[in-house]
Amino acid sequence: MAKTGSYRPMRVLSGMRPSGKLHLGHFHGVLENWLKLQETCECYFFVADWHALTTEYENPGGLKKNILDMAADWLSVGIDPSRSVIFRQSEIKEHAELHVLLSMLTPLAWLERNPTYKEQLEEVRDRELHTYGFLGYPVLQTSDIIIYRAGKVPVGIDQAPHLELAREITRRFNYLYGETFPEPQTILTQSPKVLGVDGRKMSKSYDNAIYLSDPPEVIEKKMLTMMTDPARKRRTDPGNPGICPVYVTFHTLYSNEPVKEWVRRGCESAGIGCIECKKSVIPEVVKRLTPVREKREGFLKDPDRVSSILKKGGEKAREAAMETMLDVRKALSLD
Ligand code: TRP
Ligand code: SF4
Repeated sequence: MAKTGSYRPMRVLSGMRPSGKLHLGHFHGVLENWLKLQETCECYFFVADWHALTTEYENPGGLKKNILDMAADWLSVGIDPSRSVIFRQSEIKEHAELHVLLSMLTPLAWLERNPTYKEQLEEVRDRELHTYGFLGYPVLQTSDIIIYRAGKVPVGIDQAPHLELAREITRRFNYLYGETFPEPQTILTQSPKVLGVDGRKMSKSYDNAIYLSDPPEVIEKKMLTMMTDPARKRRTDPGNPGICPVYVTFHTLYSNEPVKEWVRRGCESAGIGCIECKKSVIPEVVKRLTPVREKREGFLKDPDRVSSILKKGGEKAREAAMETMLDVRKALSLD
């Protein structure tokens, strides 16, 4: 970790629930941002496996594979264990200890009015989420953050309500027991619009994603069948790149300006066809993902290597967490 003299870089922390292999939405929306932060800050990135159980508690069997897949993806894109602390939440039991203590001082009303909680209870029909653990999701998330005294937490907008709660819980702790934790700041990740092959937001649950693990022929097939401007039914119809997912996501992220210019003109004047347009960007996507996929295959062939990276990261994380817990226990007369 980059530490020079008395310079103490800002500690950054973020995590993801292990939902399996990652797609381009995660790559451009989250991981590229982590890669940048890793250059300048002391970063803690963790696999939120306990958080995954808040919704997957009936089927924990898939967890191991999902953790491996996700960690392999992180490492393959360049999240670097020699710079960043990469670990698994459940290996640091102190998160659970802090969670139980925070749960004493967190008013139920704060949790019940959490918009994410209310929304999920409405929307998720295929499982029972009226549980103690699910209600307490943000309390656990707060403990994940403040146990490392993280100053900055990069997350997507969907996590903003959780971070607001984390700040409130932190303030309440500090008010009751004295200044113990810095208030974590949210860094809202500016993520590009990553659309899937059906034109909706790229998401595993929509079955419209291109994965970091997809080989060239799969990428090509998915992209050739990808939805375009629906008004462009025939080759002779002019199109609007501004509403076409091929342009909005793929050319925007992978093509240089001359190619984009060629697409805009060609599409609007019906000078080029959609297949031609797609074929101009597919090789760029393949070129970007091939080294990632190859690294990933290497990691998956040797899962012990991934586990040992997570273990080593866990040791570093645990040291920091144990140090904080000494202060916490003292503050609560538990020392
Ligand atoms: N709730 C986050 C998500 O679903 C994952 C998460 C758990 C997290 N603990 C965290 C993110 C702490 C940032 C900080 O993506
Ligand atoms: Fe989309 Fe390209 Fe077809 Fe235009 S030419 S509609 S940008 S795929």
